[in-house]
Amino acid sequence: VLERAARLIGEHRDLLRERTGGDALAVRGWDGYLLALDDAALEGLERDAKWPRDAPASLRSLIDEAAAVCELPSFPAAPPSRLAIGETPRKRAQIDAFARVLEPLARGARRVVDVGCGHGHLTRELAARIDGPIVGLERDADLMTRARALGGASFAEVDVLCHGLGLERGDCAIGLHACGELGDAMVESAARAGASVALVGCCPQKRRSPSRRSLSCDLELPREVLGLGNLAAGDQGVEASRRENLGARERRLALHRLLVARVGALRFGAEIEGLNRRVAHASLDVLVERAFGRRGLALPTRVELEDAMRAARLEHARARRLSLPRATLARPLEVFLLLDRARHLEERGYAVEYGVLFPREVSARNLALLARK
Ligand SMILES: C[S@@+](CC[C@H](N)C(=O)[O-])C[C@H]1O[C@@H](n2cnc3c(N)ncnc32)[C@H](O)[C@@H]1O
Repeated sequence: VLERAARLIGEHRDLLRERTGGDALAVRGWDGYLLALDDAALEGLERDAKWPRDAPASLRSLIDEAAAVCELPSFPAAPPSRLAIGETPRKRAQIDAFARVLEPLARGARRVVDVGCGHGHLTRELAARIDGPIVGLERDADLMTRARALGGASFAEVDVLCHGLGLERGDCAIGLHACGELGDAMVESAARAGASVALVGCCPQKRRSPSRRSLSCDLELPREVLGLGNLAAGDQGVEASRRENLGARERRLALHRLLVARVGALRFGAEIEGLNRRVAHASLDVLVERAFGRRGLALPTRVELEDAMRAARLEHARARRLSLPRATLARPLEVFLLLDRARHLEERGYAVEYGVLFPREVSARNLALLARK
């Protein structure tokens, strides 16, 4: 499956480069089909990836191959337990599931190291379950203060990418949503030291270098492409938040247009700089008032606002359709990263298990890797 995932991604590099596919769609003859999708078909696709039967054959084969690559085993569900102080129900469900599968690995370890432990909820859970030494590592001073105040385990404030993980043979490195480069650092350091690993990764684009070199094959992926592996899928089943997010995106596109008309070229995303992102969930009037106010610009007229909103709706409808094939590759990319790490460990004598750890409503970043030397 690793080779199939790598091939799928490699063959669609051109499609991955731009959010709306760029020329790659026209080259494949998919643009006309996508732009002609009616609203109901688009909704079905965005919500449940249900492709109509009349999709072009080459697009269908991309969809089928992507689905095949993403068929992974699931870890058995964990029974729910009580919320501890400071935890959300979703974080608790993640901890229940992860602690259950990694406990056997942690139990035999010389020392358990929770990498990027945040508030330390998982560290505390493990400390309560096993007798051996356990430490949570975190670089954010505020999170560390909070983790220490909650107690229940030892914590150390350290940037592990600058200072290393300090793993030794027999240690067990664990990371729940160990973001970006942390996941690779855990896998590579554990393999060098002979430590075991339990990892749920996220945000692969968060790294210092502009690209990621595969650990097990020669596929190198730039940061922009890696960001696709973190495509938010959490609100897909929740209609209210999906609607809200689509509306917010339209308003941001309208604001972007209005600002470009006033100040010239502007990177998309810059329209909201300095503002809380939630403000895009208010009306366009409020959003524009805040963004123009922050820049000291006179407000646009009502006619300008209405024109911008109308154009933004059209632009958004087009972008939603054209970005569908690229979005199809989001999960395969995530699966590729999982299997690439698994292969690296297997080649170094590890017994590796991987699969889906919890439902996507709990967190869309739900792929776990367990490796024992
Ligand atoms: C997505 S959060 C997950 C936090 C926690 N494990 C949880 O599941 O709630 C990732 C954490 O890793 C920490 N982190 C990122 N890079 C780090 C580094 N180089 N060294 C130590 N901690 C790091 C971040 O500050 C953040 O708290």
